[in-house]
Amino acid sequence: MHKTVEKILITEKEILEKCKELGRKITKDYSDSENLMLVGLLKGSVPFMGDLMKEIDLDLTVEYMDVSSYVETVSTEVKIIKDLDSPVSGKDILIVEDVVDTGKTLHIVIQLLKDRGANSVKVVTMIDKEGNRVVELNADYVGFSIGSEFIVGYGLDFNERLRNLKYIGILKKDLYTK
Ligand code: IMP
Ligand code: MG
Repeated sequence: MHKTVEKILITEKEILEKCKELGRKITKDYSDSENLMLVGLLKGSVPFMGDLMKEIDLDLTVEYMDVSSYVETVSTEVKIIKDLDSPVSGKDILIVEDVVDTGKTLHIVIQLLKDRGANSVKVVTMIDKEGNRVVELNADYVGFSIGSEFIVGYGLDFNERLRNLKYIGILKKDLYTK
C-alpha cells in the first residue's frame, strides 16, 4: 500500500468486477442505440474509461473533455480546457466520471451537451458521494456510494499525484488538514 494511504477502500478486484457489472447493464440498456458516445472527463476518468469501455459490447465512440472543476455557485458557465473533437448532435451521450461530489461540474456539462443537441445524456460514475450534493444531480449508473472521505487512486488525485494506484484508498488525514 502507498505510504500516504490510510486504508484501501475498494480493491482492484472489486473495481474490475464492478466494471463488468456496469458494462453488462449499459450494453443491455443501450442495445437499441446506434449512436452511443462515451464522454470521459479528464483526467480522473481515464482508468475507469479504459476498463469500462472494454465491458460494453456495442458500437460506440469515445471522446474526452476537460473542464475546470471549481465553478462559482451562481455561475452557469464552465471553463472548457479541452473540448470534444466531434459534434454531439443526435448522439446518446454517456458521461464517464471518476467521482460525483457536489455535482456542480456535471450539472453544467450535462446542460451544455443537451444545449448542443444530444439525443440523451446520462452519467456513469465509479464513485458517488451523494451526501455532498449542492445541486440536484442523479447519476444513472453508480459503481460505489461512499461518504465524504477524500479518496485517491484509480484516476483520483491528491495534488495531481496518486492517480496511478490500482485501488481506491482513503488518504491519510494529516496530509490535507495541515
Ligand atoms: P463536483 O461533483 O463538481 O464537486 O466535482 C467532482 C470533482 O472533484 C471530481 O471530478 C474530482 O476531480 C474532484 N473530487 C471530488 N472528491 C474527490 C476525492 O475524494 N478525491 C479526489 N478528487 C475528488
Ligand atoms: Mg474529475
